[in-house]
Amino acid sequence: MKEAIAILKSEHRSISAVLHALKELGRMAHDATARPRFQVLRSMLRYIDEYPEQLHHPKEDQHLFARVVARAPEARLLVEELQAEHEEGARLIRELERALLFMEEGWPLGAREFRKAVDAYAEFHWKHMRKEEQQLLPLAERHLLPEDWKAIDAAFAANTDPIAGMQERDFDKLFSRIVSLAPQPVGLGERWPGT
Ligand SMILES: [Fe+2]
Ligand SMILES: [Fe+2]
Repeated sequence: MKEAIAILKSEHRSISAVLHALKELGRMAHDATARPRFQVLRSMLRYIDEYPEQLHHPKEDQHLFARVVARAPEARLLVEELQAEHEEGARLIRELERALLFMEEGWPLGAREFRKAVDAYAEFHWKHMRKEEQQLLPLAERHLLPEDWKAIDAAFAANTDPIAGMQERDFDKLFSRIVSLAPQPVGLGERWPGT
């Protein structure tokens, strides 16, 4: 497998793991019998906001998508859809943040809405990643030339977004923090009462 594809899929798996955990915590925040500690939800939202925004999407947009469109003009529509989804995803995260704030202020009020918003967001993001893996990557593998892959592999392996200056290891740290904060059985933290 091309290095860039392996990295892209592994980044999708990291995002997916946090989405699964977030969904489970959305359910638990709804079912809890005493006020849960919401700090972990803020860390999770930060992760699924910043990791794609700062690390993952720029590499897709600037390197992979751009070269696929240049070599296979028939991919333009698909790429435009994927780019629009990147923007839509950022907007949906803002809504999730608002729903979390509302729930934190009024819990258990707002827990049902937060859970619904989380489920919808997770579904949206999974669909987006599936589209990239099942539709975009096969086109890339069919049409890109060795010199394209050389440049794309280098960009994906560098794993530094020059604009944000955010490094992969910062996200690894945030990911570990999420796991240690998340209540059992999702993570290693104290179990939320009633869940
Ligand atoms: Fe994407
Ligand atoms: Fe992606």
